Amino acid sequence: MAHAVRTLIDRERIARRVAELGREITSDIERELEGRGGPDAEVVLLCALTGALVFTADLIRHMPLKLAVRTVTVSSYPGTAITSQGVNIRGEIPTDLAGKHVLIVDDILDSGRTLGLLRRVIAAQQPASLRVIVLLRKTKAAGRDEDVTADYAGFDIADDFVVGYGLDFDGYFRNLPDVAVLTPDGSGAPRPGAPERPGAVG
Ligand code: IMP
Ligand code: MG
Repeated sequence: MAHAVRTLIDRERIARRVAELGREITSDIERELEGRGGPDAEVVLLCALTGALVFTADLIRHMPLKLAVRTVTVSSYPGTAITSQGVNIRGEIPTDLAGKHVLIVDDILDSGRTLGLLRRVIAAQQPASLRVIVLLRKTKAAGRDEDVTADYAGFDIADDFVVGYGLDFDGYFRNLPDVAVLTPDGSGAPRPGAPERPGAVG
């Protein structure tokens, strides 16, 4: 089925908010480093692929810190499913995070399963501090499957399925510069041209 999109948060608003978040997180981390670990303590930003790719790329350029950037691949929405299918980490997860200041970055906090899993796996390594950053936080009036909170969220949104700025449906729409609500539409807009690939990742 073809799909249409309706812009929810346009690129200018995203850019302004991402810059603001970067400044806020940077000053919080700087304050943390003055207190614990000293200015040389390692700060590691962990980008949850694939959805947080675009957000991370923009965010880190507003974080003038000594910062290591790592990635972890989490999958939860195989193919065209738009409800959570259970979460798994694919491939390697960094194992050297003990004593470091870790910032987990994801695109969206929805059921909480992805960030719940990541948070547990990383907290077990006893980092000096652990923060969760998301671009979007869904309201989830009925509650989340896992009780995870984001320390920083760009925007609070309703429980609609959204795409763009890194977020996908069936692997597509990540390259849309705005965040948009996906609506089934027979007359629909063409999908951005990208080759078919197996199962959506993150
Ligand atoms: P959670 O585990 O249900 O919190 O979902 C987290 C992951 O599911 C996100 O990192 C996204 O990859 C994906 N996801 C959740 N809601 C949406 C959405 O509205 N659009 C696209 N992807 C979503
Ligand atoms: Mg994701």
